[in-house]
This record gives sequence, C-alpha cells and structure tokens, in this order.
Amino acid sequence: MTNPKRIVLSSDHSAIELRQTIAQHIAGQGWDVLDIGPTTTESTHYPTHGQAAAERVVSGECALGIILCGTGQGIMMAANKVKGIRCGVCSDTFSAQMIRAHNDANILSLGARVLGAGLALEIVDAFLSTEFEGGRHATRVDMIEPA
Ligand code: RB5
Repeated sequence: MTNPKRIVLSSDHSAIELRQTIAQHIAGQGWDVLDIGPTTTESTHYPTHGQAAAERVVSGECALGIILCGTGQGIMMAANKVKGIRCGVCSDTFSAQMIRAHNDANILSLGARVLGAGLALEIVDAFLSTEFEGGRHATRVDMIEPA
C-alpha cells in the first residue's frame, strides 16, 4: 500500500538548489521525501532523472513526484514516456491545481531557470493540496492511456 504522503524528487544539474529548497519545504509539511538526486552540479541528462522518478511512482513506492530541469519541459517529456505517468509543467498555481483536480497528474514538473523559489514553492503547495475530482474527469483521464 503506497504511503499517500511519500513523494519522490528528482532533477538534472540545472535544478539542484531549487530541488533541495522544495525538499526542505515539503518535509516541513509532513511529506515523506525521497530525494533521488543528483547532488552535484556536474552536467547530467534529464531523461535519466525523469524516468527514475517516474519509476518510483508507477511502482507504488511513492504516491507523487516533483521533477525539475532548466525549463521543466525535457524532464516532463521523459517522465510521460513511462506508462502510468501523467506529468505537467507548471509556471502558475492555477495550472498546478488543475493538473491534480482534472488530470489526476501524479508528477509535477518545474523549470528552475524559469521560476524563482518563491513562486515555485507556491506552485508546489497548490499541487500538493489539491485532490483529483474524479467523475467526468476520470472518464477523460482513462482515455489518455487505455488499459
Ligand atoms: C540543460 O542544459 C537543459 O537543457 C535542461 O535542464 C532542460 O531545460 C531541458 O529540457
């Protein structure tokens, strides 16, 4: 049974500082944070880190994930290639609420070269405090990836 408060964090080299800021912020809210790195700023490859986080979610080890790269776009594309992942890039709080409420997103992607830390944390809070509404939205979500 997946712990609903367990969340995986991952990024490429461009987003280490923001990822660590987010980890500290949400750990303070009671989230059980699995930060899978990387920890050095040595240049690395965002698909590796997006896929690694995605695997932690689809395996059931974590309920949700937050991933970051420079724009949030490349790592989002990589995560969405993993069956069962619904990941969106957000640069505003409304979208972060909606990808949970309407799309049942299980991973949030952020751009560390796009967002300041203050807005990034507000987006994270919006994502993590919103539940999927189900109903007609469940019908549509099921159509994204038929069984
Ligand atoms: C790395 O330089 C950069 O390309 C990456 O972080 C990301 O923005 C790709 O989508």
